[in-house]
Amino acid sequence: MSLILEGFMGCGKSAIGRRLADRLGLAFIDTDAEIERKQRCSISDIFRESGEEAFRQMETSQLYSLELEGSEAVISLGGGTPMRDANMRVLKRLGKIIYLKASPGILLGRLEEDKDGRPMLAGYELKKRVESLLEEREGRYLEIADSVVELSGADIDTECLKVIGAYEELK
Ligand code: S3P
Repeated sequence: MSLILEGFMGCGKSAIGRRLADRLGLAFIDTDAEIERKQRCSISDIFRESGEEAFRQMETSQLYSLELEGSEAVISLGGGTPMRDANMRVLKRLGKIIYLKASPGILLGRLEEDKDGRPMLAGYELKKRVESLLEEREGRYLEIADSVVELSGADIDTECLKVIGAYEELK
């Protein structure tokens, strides 16, 4: 049974996930990083060379591989991963899903600093794009979450403790 972190781009899935894995003594898997490693190519290059649909297919395959491996880990997803129905079903089988919920203000602040390498944002006016994607996605994030952790933008250790608390309650 793994601990799966979902949430919008910029919410801190990878940073919090890595710290959580350390604290819980579990392996850490970042699905985007795994895809980049296997493809030997950055996410931006995958989008540019093969398109979004090909990337989404890689995300789904990555989840099936994790299911086959069957190990217990902290898994950080890409922001769009829960949107496919097939992914949603695998995720439910893989473990407990925690939605890292951050306000649009926190997300925008982070993404303004760090939007390179995020092809879903490239070429858009950031605020409008984030608001519209968030509106599209939040229902699904909530639908599949076993628990929702509201992030306050505090340091990673503080956010991490909140997630551990939520995870303990689910076990
Ligand atoms: C995406 C989020 C990215 C990455 C890809 C698509 C999305 O991951 O999977 O660029 O559709 O929201 P992060 O949420 O880690 O930025």
